Amino acid sequence: MPSVFFETFGCQMNVADSDLLAHALAARGYYRAETGATADLVVINTCSVRERAEIRAKARIAEYARHKKKNKHNQQLWVVGCMAQRLGKALITEIPGVDRVVGAKDIMTFVSDIDAVLNVSPPARTADAEAAQVSVFVPIMRGCNNFCSYCVVPYVRGEEQSIPAAKVENTVRELIDKGVKEITLLGQNVNSYSDGVCDFAELLGKMHCLAGLERIRFTTSHPKDCTLKLVRTMAGLPKVCNHIHLPVQSGSSRILGLMNRNYTREAYLERIEVIKQEVPGVDITTDAMVGFPSETEDDFQETLSLFESVRFTTASMFAYSKRDGTAAAGMIDDVAVNKKKERLAALINVQTKITKEHYASMVGKELDVLFTERQRGRENLWMGQDNGCKRVLLACDDAIAGTILHVRVNRSSGMTLICERI
Ligand code: SAH
Ligand code: SF4
Ligand code: F3S
Repeated sequence: MPSVFFETFGCQMNVADSDLLAHALAARGYYRAETGATADLVVINTCSVRERAEIRAKARIAEYARHKKKNKHNQQLWVVGCMAQRLGKALITEIPGVDRVVGAKDIMTFVSDIDAVLNVSPPARTADAEAAQVSVFVPIMRGCNNFCSYCVVPYVRGEEQSIPAAKVENTVRELIDKGVKEITLLGQNVNSYSDGVCDFAELLGKMHCLAGLERIRFTTSHPKDCTLKLVRTMAGLPKVCNHIHLPVQSGSSRILGLMNRNYTREAYLERIEVIKQEVPGVDITTDAMVGFPSETEDDFQETLSLFESVRFTTASMFAYSKRDGTAAAGMIDDVAVNKKKERLAALINVQTKITKEHYASMVGKELDVLFTERQRGRENLWMGQDNGCKRVLLACDDAIAGTILHVRVNRSSGMTLICERI
């Protein structure tokens, strides 16, 4: 039996795509290798969002290619995803040893044609070689039409396309039958979902009716689509978790304009107030970047002050990275690398303090936690998540994957809540 090893970079969309391909391969007899070194097939799923992401992926690919040559190993090396889309076959010339390049736009077609690719007959029935998962990502749309000026995603993933609600429903039903308890609906701006009949809030309603499903999450929300209707739907449906990921990118309205984000600082803050009011105890998380072209010290201070005033539970923070072909690539990348590093460190510093305070404020509280898996290498230590986005650990001898338990928070280790069963 052949074996396969996956290395996935980038966002949850890539994780979902890797899962899809892994599933198709498993049905055709491929088992998961423990390491890439000995696998018959290595799949590297790549990201292009920042230059650093591409450099890291290329380094890994080159390492596999070298290893393969040195050991005269008859290994297949496939590069898929967003960088594969951006660079195409040039990757094979750049890194000899790469056998196949499949761009993010082609991955669905590739998976449906996998029998022709592998030159095998289709399986009689779908063998389920993989262990049941508790929580899975479910793409409900692909691509993005927003063209934020810094972003490569619309170019590598193409136009926004929503998957018909009936199809999403069938996928989720099948997942529930396999033991899945939690889904995360995925899209680059998931709240603009529409299949022509059903909008995002209505799709949430449909998911909520599915018996056996315990929790519903979604990501990513663009502030322009985060309407009162959506927030009220979220508040009204108990299975929908109290977490919203609402990337702000910058606290300066001038920079937001240059980014083509279609909202101002004030409009963003107003959204936040509505969410906090309608969904008590909600976890709000964000993405932000520093050092966008022409960002001044004052612009940056506005990002800092927005972080102080919103008090996000957690945030992903980045230094601006120029991407060829985007609108911002035509602007002068005039914030010095050291300045970017300095601002990023300052922002991370402020947010880390806020995150720790959020976690510390949970000590003594009772939570409902869905446990998903054991902590690696620890037999009796279970990882889970509360109804928001907080990470939880519980020592427990029973197998509790897939169960929601009521627990009390004993202490916080900074970014994890250590709990006891009650
Ligand atoms: N669709 C999502 C995620 C996009 S990529 C959204 O709209 O938020 C994830 C994050 O990467 C973005 O939110 C942004 O903060 C960051 N990012 C995107 N392009 C970038 C670039 N060129 N340089 C630095 N960070 C970038
Ligand atoms: Fe990129 Fe903007 Fe689309 Fe997000 S919404 S993927 S940041 S273009
Ligand atoms: Fe995701 Fe990176 Fe592609 S963030 S959509 S994997 S460019």
